[in-house]
Amino acid sequence: MSMQHVLDYLKQNQARFLSELCEFLRFPSVSAQSQHKDDLRACADWLVQHCRSIGLKAEVCPTAGHPIVLAKTPHVAASRNGKHRPHYLVYGHYDVQPPEPLNLWKSPPFEARIEGRSLFARGSTDNKGQIFAHLKAAEAYLKTGTPLPCDLTFLIEGEEEVGGENLVEFLKTRRKELHCDAIVVSDTGMPDKKHPALTYGLRGIIAFEIILHGPSRDLHSGIFGGAIENPAIALSGMLAKMHDKNGKVAVPHFYDGVLPLSAYERKQFKRLPLPDSALQKLLGVKKLYGERGFTATEQRSARPTFEINGLTSGYQGEGSKTIVPAWARAKITCRLVPNQRPSHINKVVCDYIKKVCPPTVRLELEAGHGAEAYYVSPTGAHAQAALRALRGAFGREPVLLREGGSIPIVNEFKKVLGADTLLLGLGLPEDNAHSPNEKFDLDNFENGQRMSALLWQELNATS
Ligand code: BES
Ligand code: ZN
Repeated sequence: MSMQHVLDYLKQNQARFLSELCEFLRFPSVSAQSQHKDDLRACADWLVQHCRSIGLKAEVCPTAGHPIVLAKTPHVAASRNGKHRPHYLVYGHYDVQPPEPLNLWKSPPFEARIEGRSLFARGSTDNKGQIFAHLKAAEAYLKTGTPLPCDLTFLIEGEEEVGGENLVEFLKTRRKELHCDAIVVSDTGMPDKKHPALTYGLRGIIAFEIILHGPSRDLHSGIFGGAIENPAIALSGMLAKMHDKNGKVAVPHFYDGVLPLSAYERKQFKRLPLPDSALQKLLGVKKLYGERGFTATEQRSARPTFEINGLTSGYQGEGSKTIVPAWARAKITCRLVPNQRPSHINKVVCDYIKKVCPPTVRLELEAGHGAEAYYVSPTGAHAQAALRALRGAFGREPVLLREGGSIPIVNEFKKVLGADTLLLGLGLPEDNAHSPNEKFDLDNFENGQRMSALLWQELNATS
């Protein structure tokens, strides 16, 4: 049995793969919302059953939070010539972002809908469709009886979207069994359908909430308004101080240690598709905005930010209600770049918030998760093998990317398992990850399966 059998198998089974992926997408596995706890468990159980059906040895591993799915290719006796049999870990996540606001979805988020070459559903690109492409490639080897040149372990977690810490514990306790030559992750993007991509950098993150407490209860704004600070206005004023007129984060020491972009990198960024004008159109904004002196690509992938993810205060229901609200809160994340330590950034940001908080309200800061940025040179043998696999599968020249999203666990892979991660994303900018009408491109699904199938051969050629 040869590689051609694997590729033929993939080609012949696309319709079934698609209906299986639709089943996977039906679970509302929203990790952030506690009412979905059982749905995550059911999704993990389904995934384990599915892995078994394609010939993997799979188990559900309970954690303090949502379970982890672990699935392995069947054991192959070590070769007698003493050659090292490589082991690769394929990581993905089966949890998804909340689907809200529901009214903006053209069809229900957990009833997958196919339109042309797009598959619409929450989690389709982030990350169920992408991890499924790797599972189908493994299935093709196993079902055609084609020997895999390596051992594979699939590690599919249920807490990626909430920055969960439980997987770190899991890595530590199973360190030996998870020891591997490299980790492969398809949970990033490509700039467009014509440019498959290897991502060699990701931004880090810190998350926290600012809560301002004003009066002990909501008050009549006519009776009391004017004599007390309105927490919503106080918070707005504080948040308005977070950026300067050049679009830079105004927090002292925020940019400490941030490395300038090299001329080489800036040149590479310029070669990527999706120029600023196209981005403006895609995102539906009147005008782009950002840190002066950097292109949109640089701002989105290699510069740190301060963002408000949610802002709540006062009456949100129908009609009007004349009150001075008792409190106001903002959910904040900062994206970090290499050399910015999350603990340091957390400190300088919180110090600044305390400084700009007026004395008329009580400030509460609720700490959240954090992770360093990831950066690994794309010149190594594994990266070169990945580029060959991308080229072979997509029939196009791949590009090298740094991306702005965060996958905190890749740092732990390096620390705990000592291995680098190959980021081979299949998502498109227009896939609406984390937005209403999320979709996955079915050509990328198919090319992704082939990329995975070819990757194991290409990596083998390097070992
Ligand atoms: N798939 C994304 C990460 C991503 C997206 C990387 C696009 C590169 C390009 C992942 O599922 C995600 O959304 N991660 C969160 C992590 C956070 C909750 C700690 C993110 O980036 O917001
Ligand atoms: Zn995500």
